[in-house]
Amino acid sequence: MTEILALDGLVKRFGSRTILDGISLNVSAGEIVCFVGPSGTGKSTLLRCINGLEDIQGGRISFEGQAVQGNPSAIRAVRKRVGMIFQHFNLYPHLTALQNVMLAPVVVHKEAKAEVEARARALFDKVRLAHRINAYPAEMSGGEQQRVAIARALCTNPHLLMFDEPTSALDPETVGDVLTVMRDLALEGRTMLVVTHEIRFAADVGTRMVFMDQCRIVEQGDPRAMVAGAQTERARKFLGTIHG
Ligand SMILES: Nc1ncnc2c1ncn2[C@@H]1O[C@H](COP(=O)(O)OP(=O)(O)OP(=O)(O)O)[C@@H](O)[C@H]1O
Ligand SMILES: [Mg+2]
Repeated sequence: MTEILALDGLVKRFGSRTILDGISLNVSAGEIVCFVGPSGTGKSTLLRCINGLEDIQGGRISFEGQAVQGNPSAIRAVRKRVGMIFQHFNLYPHLTALQNVMLAPVVVHKEAKAEVEARARALFDKVRLAHRINAYPAEMSGGEQQRVAIARALCTNPHLLMFDEPTSALDPETVGDVLTVMRDLALEGRTMLVVTHEIRFAADVGTRMVFMDQCRIVEQGDPRAMVAGAQTERARKFLGTIHG
């Protein structure tokens, strides 16, 4: 399997506070790795370190075989190849859905507008929003906006998609539509890191579950096996709590 991402003993501190304390993880192409764990354990920080939004104080990150930290051109390459989807969709309110999706490829990457538009239109089909292509964010539900954000991430042809609690800010009735699109992406073989509290999604779609607590990976394994009965007491307790 092609290795997409390798983390080796990653350490992140804010001031004297350690946030990530030796995170090692290898992710191969096509894996769907779901991160779960209590609030404040560093899950979001970990994703931010991976795409170079945070510097790191120890360890190594390599993306598609290339060391990232301390190498500005590698950081730029990673950012270009990683699509990030956040809890709050961060769409530009004055642009339509289509314009939001086309913005980075056209303005940042200087691609030809007609090519980008053709790709963007196909992506709106994929996220099941072809009928909303000319809507403004304020005219869309949270779930629709999040699917626009997914199309936006896909439009830069990423090799890795990272989701940080993509459904946590949504009304319950729109969560399912977003999870359906994420399931479609998983089925087409995308490589995905997903921080989520949706344990059923993790168990159905994830190829691996990573339980983090207190700055570390405490346990990882097959999601279904972990939900049925994790090895460590901490993971068992956490999964039991949010599983209901
Ligand atoms: N820029 C920052 N400066 C200082 N501390 C920070 C910064 N960003 C995050 N932290 C701290 O790092 C710790 C980990 O935060 P992070 O947001 O990564 O946790 P999380 O696991 O994503 O939590 P949640 O489940 O609530 O989203 C927290 O204690 C947080 O306060
Ligand atoms: Mg977080």
